[in-house]
Amino acid sequence: MLIPPAPYWLRSMALHDLPEVREIDRLSFPTAARAGLFEHELEQNNIAHYYVLGRMGDEDGRIAPIVGFTGFWLIADEIHVSTIASHPQWRGHGLGELLLLNLLFEAYEHPATMATLEVRRSNTVAQALYRKYEFEEVGTRPRYYRDTGEDALLMTVPSLNARYHQFLEGQQAALFQRLRSEA
Ligand SMILES: CC(C)(COP(=O)(O)OP(=O)(O)OC[C@H]1O[C@@H](n2cnc3c(N)ncnc32)[C@H](O)[C@@H]1OP(=O)(O)O)[C@@H](O)C(=O)NCCC(=O)NCCS
Repeated sequence: MLIPPAPYWLRSMALHDLPEVREIDRLSFPTAARAGLFEHELEQNNIAHYYVLGRMGDEDGRIAPIVGFTGFWLIADEIHVSTIASHPQWRGHGLGELLLLNLLFEAYEHPATMATLEVRRSNTVAQALYRKYEFEEVGTRPRYYRDTGEDALLMTVPSLNARYHQFLEGQQAALFQRLRSEA
């Protein structure tokens, strides 16, 4: 697990995080996760790995201390990003990037050799984040999203190799510097 600069912290998601996680989920996606989904992922899905990102110092009731979350499924030697979101009030500060970076480092721990995800065709912000991390578009899944009928783009990092690990380390150094300077 990455240890980000203060005031941020990362850890595995726990059941008691779910009220805040659900709120961020509700604010972040056209259709919120169905009831019980996160509980199922945490308690019953052995291939699921979920993380929360918090920001210390905001526990005064105005802003929830959890500012983002992410998850992946480990399927054979592949990680599939199941979700990623940062709180709308905290976007544009490198936190989505921190969540993705942590997840990609975690992939090496298992070890996975490839990363995949689906993203809505219209979600150009998320696509920009994934491209920054060298995800390549390898296909589409027509009308993949049942709520809006939108197509998914399938994106992958085909090889989680030593070179890519080095690339992640460079990204981490730059991101941590940014987080420190903006803290
Ligand atoms: C996608 C999401 C997680 C990005 O999180 P974030 O905290 O705003 O993003 P960051 O500040 O870490 O930005 C990381 C990169 O994302 C891209 N990005 C972020 N905001 C952007 C914007 N407004 N326009 C274009 N690209 C943007 C950039 O590549 C950016 O890198 P840079 O800072 O070097 O320019 C966030 O927008 C979100 O939660 N969206 C709703 C949920 C969602 O769509 N999840 C993805 C499902 S596939």
